[in-house]
Amino acid sequence: MIDIIDLLEVHADFIASLHRIRIAVMDRKMATAAAELAWLRPALTEHIKGEETLLFPWYEDEDVPANGSKRAIARDHRMLEKHLQVSLQDRGPIALADDLTRFAGLVEHHNERESRFFKPRLDQVIPADEKRKILAWFEASIAALPPVSAPADDDPAPIGPVPGDSLARCRFDLATGGGSPEQITALPVTETKAIRLRDRAAAHLEHGDRLAAYDDLRLLSLFEHRQT
Ligand SMILES: [Fe+2]
Ligand SMILES: [Fe+2]
Repeated sequence: MIDIIDLLEVHADFIASLHRIRIAVMDRKMATAAAELAWLRPALTEHIKGEETLLFPWYEDEDVPANGSKRAIARDHRMLEKHLQVSLQDRGPIALADDLTRFAGLVEHHNERESRFFKPRLDQVIPADEKRKILAWFEASIAALPPVSAPADDDPAPIGPVPGDSLARCRFDLATGGGSPEQITALPVTETKAIRLRDRAAAHLEHGDRLAAYDDLRLLSLFEHRQT
């Protein structure tokens, strides 16, 4: 690494980690998800600390749009810290899957925010030797973490009561490793937008993208609730 913008590669690691957590949760492999989260928590917390202590002092944001300002970045950081406190226990499968969907959306959004103004601009102002020191700190903070150790015998957690409503049932099934494209296609929706979301969810599942299918059903659910 020689450029601050390369730190976006670390973001990709966070996104991948969160992806593994979401898949493990849907497979009801809660100990695997917990092991991954035990890595992500300190990794992302340290990353945020590094950005605010080592990078913020270099960032002149007076002429960048408000959504690229230090304030906006710090606001994302506080929300990310809150999401990191997500409890894998004590929530039903739909609530937990929704929490993780929102978390993943914020990580993507934050990545976008930092890649547009924050990091390109830092590369213009931070001298090379200072950059090297800063990047070494970031690398060391990740290298210091113990690797993820998922248990080999992670038996799927019990599922609990299933909801009666057909859309909630579909989301529940997807969130617990079940569901089928046919089940989604059979959902009784009438609005054009709802039909589009439903069919896109079914297509995602058809292609094996369970997370994208879940996210579309979540949007469909929000849409349907707005309708009633
Ligand atoms: Fe970052
Ligand atoms: Fe950040």
